[in-house]
Amino acid sequence: MNKNVIEKVEYLRAKIRYHDGKYYVSNMPEIEDYEYDQLMKQLEMLENSHPQLITPDSPTQRVSGEPVPEFKSVEHKIPMLSIENTYSEEELREFDRRIRRKLKNTRLSDIAGRTSAQEGSLELIEEIEYVIEHKIDGVAISLWYENGIFTRGATRGNGIRGDDVTANLRTVKDIPLRFLCDDHIRIPPSIEIRGEIYLPDGDFQILNQRREEEGEPLFANPRNAAAGSLKLLNPQTTAKRPLRLFAYAFGYYGDSKFTDHIECLETIKKFGLPVNPHYKLCKNMDEAISYCNLWESRRSELEYQVDGMVIKVNSLGLHGILGSTSKAPRWVISYKYQPEESTTKIETIKVQVGKTGILTPVAELDPVPLSGTTVSRASLYNFDEIERKDIRVGDCVIVRKAGEIIPQVVKVLKEKRTGNEQRFDVPEKCPACEGDVIKEEVYLKCHNPLCTAQAKRRIVYFASRNAMNIEGLGPALIEQLVDKKIINDYADIYSLKVDDLVPLERMGEKSAQNLITEIEKSKSRDLHLLVCALGIQNIGSHAAEVLSKEFGTLDKLMNASVEELEEIFEIGSITAKSLVDFFSNSHTQDVIRKLKTAGVNLTAISRHTKSVSPIAEKSFVVTGTLNGYTRKEAEGIIKNLGGRVSSAVSSKTDFLIAGESPGSKLTKAKELGTTILNTEEFEKLINL
Ligand code: IVH
Repeated sequence: MNKNVIEKVEYLRAKIRYHDGKYYVSNMPEIEDYEYDQLMKQLEMLENSHPQLITPDSPTQRVSGEPVPEFKSVEHKIPMLSIENTYSEEELREFDRRIRRKLKNTRLSDIAGRTSAQEGSLELIEEIEYVIEHKIDGVAISLWYENGIFTRGATRGNGIRGDDVTANLRTVKDIPLRFLCDDHIRIPPSIEIRGEIYLPDGDFQILNQRREEEGEPLFANPRNAAAGSLKLLNPQTTAKRPLRLFAYAFGYYGDSKFTDHIECLETIKKFGLPVNPHYKLCKNMDEAISYCNLWESRRSELEYQVDGMVIKVNSLGLHGILGSTSKAPRWVISYKYQPEESTTKIETIKVQVGKTGILTPVAELDPVPLSGTTVSRASLYNFDEIERKDIRVGDCVIVRKAGEIIPQVVKVLKEKRTGNEQRFDVPEKCPACEGDVIKEEVYLKCHNPLCTAQAKRRIVYFASRNAMNIEGLGPALIEQLVDKKIINDYADIYSLKVDDLVPLERMGEKSAQNLITEIEKSKSRDLHLLVCALGIQNIGSHAAEVLSKEFGTLDKLMNASVEELEEIFEIGSITAKSLVDFFSNSHTQDVIRKLKTAGVNLTAISRHTKSVSPIAEKSFVVTGTLNGYTRKEAEGIIKNLGGRVSSAVSSKTDFLIAGESPGSKLTKAKELGTTILNTEEFEKLINL
């Protein structure tokens, strides 16, 4: 056996597993589907020609993706398989031929004592009818309805087991909690509907804009945003994301009798679930191909992302004959579209310094039209990425914007190099302040607390709409104030006088006076806005609200330990550590002292009063196994609505939420006459 082949196979497997983790587990894919499919194809080809190398754990032998540990894992009654991908008309025609061959052979073996005349007529076997649908680029889910009531929803996971995300799916308005059909339609006792959860493009843009303003990491594309939103531990946060559904098939359908796929789609519609309206019944593969091509040129008209078309055999009888491989049914195939791309040149690479000191390389491009806009910049993410892709100044590159707002450099066209391209040197000093830079994971970070570029970004963020909201204090003014050394940090804003402002560009007596009034007003903002404004790594508006509710004053938050912070629902260990690092920094402490002296409010005003929930101020104990929530999830929901959670039942307990096998807490609550709620009653209380 050639050693190179073994090495190549191992290399491909490691690479595919790595990208599986990025895609399925952390929701942060680094490569496009097309590149991933190419890796898989290479591995399949090598394994086909060297079958002795196939191992049961090779990525070719299973449907990838692992359930995430925080959710209850559930087994799919019928595995959720994937679809084989094709990228050319020829591959589609081959799929059609394969099906007709199989059908012909099945019919022949069914006919005892066949004659050559019959064989001849079978040559002309009818054309196959296909249903063509958009391939929605979202997240696959399974929805169970018992007697027409929505009882359980799960992600696909690894195809065999997925995550129970019922509570989050209940917040999706497109999913009826009970079938919306007339009484005369027979509702099967137990039925599973499968579909795709997606986030419309417009809502994705709004969500990312908000995240950018709040200093939270951006989602790469609408699919990641949908996947991320489905996996949130707090359903109330999911409810704020306008997730949508297109249902496209039944999974399990018991003894219901359906003849073809079209009938299934019509029935799903009758049950009240949305089916994408652009499906089409085609009488043969030629028609199917024309329909696929039609949408390739029209897909930008849609308000959601499609990454191709799905071609399904219409007859369910034929599905039975064709069966499945361990990975995908043989009656369906996808025709994937190439993501939209353009070719351009990198004019220069600039380095931006963010508010937490992270240096981000940005390619300035020869402006080029791409997916409807003109693109002149592309983020290169980090310096490892420049090295990995061997990107040089002057290179011709392919840029792509498949769903992402920020275009990315996909590939360097090395064959177009002239020899004049310049390698980009990783900065050893901060380009703004010459301070030392240190590598943290893949990021380079400027560690100079006095770096003016960072200071400017931090002050801009402090004054922005979602933070202290100081009208009139924008980036251009901040730039002048810092360059002229009138202010060094955001606390210095509060010592500004009209006389400091008047001499600045585009500043008159009146606007200076107005700005001072606005600055004065901002002193009484609520604590969560201040916590957000501090610009702590990993803390956006939402985390700031959670922390303010929990601690009530900045002093208490500053004194919290990593352990105490990790205890809080929705605060993970990375966030806890960045909080403690931030507050233990002596420069931070100086700045906060100045804020205090200036009279900036450091106490939560609306700690509980903001909530109108019946839960506010009430005391809860959660026990037993709840249907659809972990205990921590339920506790998090209660705390977010202003309730208190304790671990033991006492005379002060207002509610006991009791799941299955509740144990001694239930007995105690009964003795004390505490109100006891089951999962459904709890959901009513929190108004889900
Ligand atoms: S049918 C066994 N129809 O594509 C296959 N899937 O790559 C049953 N997808 O995870 C799926 N749009 O979630 C089907 N109209 C459509 C689809 C669709 C998107 C997803 C599906 C699956 C993935 C397969």
